[in-house]
Amino acid sequence: MTMKVLGIHIGHDSSACLVVDGRIVADVAEERFTRIKHYAGWPLRSIAYCLSAGGLDIEDIDLVAVPSSGPYPELNHLLGLEGDRVEKWSTGRRALEFARRLMKRGTAKPPLYVKAYRLPDHAEIKHVDHHLAHAASAYYTSGFRGKQLIVTLDGAGDGFSTCVWRGQDGKIEPLYRLGTEASLGWFYSNVTEALGWWHGDGEGKTMGLAPYGDPQKVGAALDFFYPKFSGGELVEPHNFGRPYFWNANGAFQWHFDEAGEIQRLVERYGREHIAARAQDVLEEQVMELVLPWLGQEGTNHLSCAGGVFLNVKLNQRLWESGKLEYQHIYPNAGDGGLAVGAALYAYFEANPDAPIPGLEHLYLGPEYSNEEIKAILDARNLAYRLVDDVAGVGAQLLAAGKIVAWFQGRMESGPRALGNRSILMSANKPEYKDIINARVKFREPFRPFCPSLLTEYRESYLVNSREEPFMITSFDVQPEKRDKVPAVVHVDGTARPQTVRREINPCYWSLIHRFGELTGEYMILNTSFNIKGEPIICHPREAIRCFYDSGIDVLILGGVILEKGRL
Ligand SMILES: [Fe+2]
Repeated sequence: MTMKVLGIHIGHDSSACLVVDGRIVADVAEERFTRIKHYAGWPLRSIAYCLSAGGLDIEDIDLVAVPSSGPYPELNHLLGLEGDRVEKWSTGRRALEFARRLMKRGTAKPPLYVKAYRLPDHAEIKHVDHHLAHAASAYYTSGFRGKQLIVTLDGAGDGFSTCVWRGQDGKIEPLYRLGTEASLGWFYSNVTEALGWWHGDGEGKTMGLAPYGDPQKVGAALDFFYPKFSGGELVEPHNFGRPYFWNANGAFQWHFDEAGEIQRLVERYGREHIAARAQDVLEEQVMELVLPWLGQEGTNHLSCAGGVFLNVKLNQRLWESGKLEYQHIYPNAGDGGLAVGAALYAYFEANPDAPIPGLEHLYLGPEYSNEEIKAILDARNLAYRLVDDVAGVGAQLLAAGKIVAWFQGRMESGPRALGNRSILMSANKPEYKDIINARVKFREPFRPFCPSLLTEYRESYLVNSREEPFMITSFDVQPEKRDKVPAVVHVDGTARPQTVRREINPCYWSLIHRFGELTGEYMILNTSFNIKGEPIICHPREAIRCFYDSGIDVLILGGVILEKGRL
């Protein structure tokens, strides 16, 4: 019998998903609707979207899964819970309740105009521990049931920061779990805050800055600030002190006093050198944790999740250790992937013999038909033209050096744009990176842009390559290609690619293929469709706003093209 699980995560990166028979049918973060990055409020519109995408009403749901061992009092109002199903705090969990109140969650009762659902009596509510949900997001999207090591690393969740698991025969067992005293995530985020960026958001900037620095120049100055691992174990815990919460316009971040101390080191040693040392520390400590466990478990299959694994350089280092035959990182590795993890865990706990599907794509969000798009444009009295062959027209514009906003099909879940809500440009000239930065993205100049390439050509562009559709790890770029696609090669000669398969995204594949026929390069620059500080675009009206509020040359919305007057 079909089993339908609704996953709900409320916290930073609140989200909802629908899992039907172990497959993710819909998954979206509330930030895409509220337009507040990392939005931490109730995922009301995400839940409504997931139900409608599955053609379901709340009465059809068999199980609701939440990624927390603690109660979710919001569900009492949201799902009309009564009697035994009421979510409440036990007396032993007061500290957690206090923390949640600080995060502006608490037990607020919504006003009448907020839609309340009535969960049917037969539907259970399943609580899945935060790190177990991360582990489930990795294992149950890995594509096979055989033995594998699962590692989950983040700042903290349900009191844990660092967990090692065994996935085997459809089940996940804990092997080693550590609390916040082992948090490499908090260390890296403290450095990120010291560099002036948002904890839980700016870590990619720290990683992008790192190759410009020399870790030797910092010496042992950062050594006090992180936990140390050796032989697969924590050998030197670190007390991070009291966490603070900062709630900024509906999203929140943690932070710690130590970031101030690290900031003084930044002033003394230089930004890029501190970033370089932090990246080295992260890679070295994770290797000290993970590699011995692979040996102990006798496996070379590794699956990972948790926000630390958004660090693509760390993932590359693990792959290049030579100890892995198979590496899978759930690409929505941060807490935005917890709803999926909880829902998958709940399904496979009830169906332990079910096959584990691989993750083919992340096109799991809203889509808009050409009729809807045309109606939106007509209502705004905008000139546009219809095109049969968007891939061919788009390829010509890219080959001519234009910046093309590309909006097709279902929006991606997770932090990366994968060719459905993307801003694209040729990667064939070094100045294209600066042009797209100056006219659209306004990012820090040291940050690299990432490429999409046809999977058929990956070996000619990437060293030691493999199929990697989610931009979740980096590779060295083949030396002879570095000056052919300079706009997507980082200063250290690496790139964080998306390999595109024709059967998964035929329109995007065709665009890159046609571009390759015109220019000889089957790789293009792909950056998310948004401007700095904004979530990835979801709706055509946001695409239009971004198009006219930036230096994008052309907007291709489904089968419709909008061009600016000077073209
Ligand atoms: Fe987490």
